Amino acid sequence: MNNDIKEILYSQQEIEEITAKLGKQITTDLKDKNPLVICVLKGAVLFMADIVRQIDTYCELDFMDVSSYGDATESSGEVKIVKDLDVSVKSRHVLIVEDIIDTGRTLERLVELLKHRQAASVKICTLLDKPERRVKSVVPDYVGFEVPNEFVVGYGLDYTGHYRNLPYVGILKPEVYENN
Ligand code: XMP
Ligand code: MG
Repeated sequence: MNNDIKEILYSQQEIEEITAKLGKQITTDLKDKNPLVICVLKGAVLFMADIVRQIDTYCELDFMDVSSYGDATESSGEVKIVKDLDVSVKSRHVLIVEDIIDTGRTLERLVELLKHRQAASVKICTLLDKPERRVKSVVPDYVGFEVPNEFVVGYGLDYTGHYRNLPYVGILKPEVYENN
């Protein structure tokens, strides 16, 4: 599995450091707001587990699965809700936790939906941002790292379901997906 990685972009330690830093900012910003922290499955699950342990105030967790990718490395533009939230967001301060913002289509749709459901506020925390590829104007409130325009995997991010369990974020060797 590690042999399929061309380059490690962010090590486990770098991720730990940035997560602690973001967690402190989120704690300051959302203290006393009892935020509903929403994990976008499945890619954000590792980041979610780490970031919520750095949020030092009351919060609740929920999970949502929205899919725009399938097995390809390109966004389809079509966003479907695979699993919806369990709790209502009405009048709640919401923090969306995402693995990566690429074109912005997924999050634009999600923010629209949560506002339509009358969330009191919607903030976005993403581990990775790939601004070069943006087609929708989504601006995250908390960003771990800006990534170059390469397909990255690890720490939750997958290619055809694999590599999510890598403890770091790396660039996949192009031959891995070119051969498929
Ligand atoms: P959009 O284009 O809607 O896409 O912002 C966001 C979703 O696309 C997936 N994505 C990636 N997944 N490596 C991945 O493993 C990547 O480089 C990559 N770029 C986008 C991701 O699931 C994200 O939620
Ligand atoms: Mg995702």
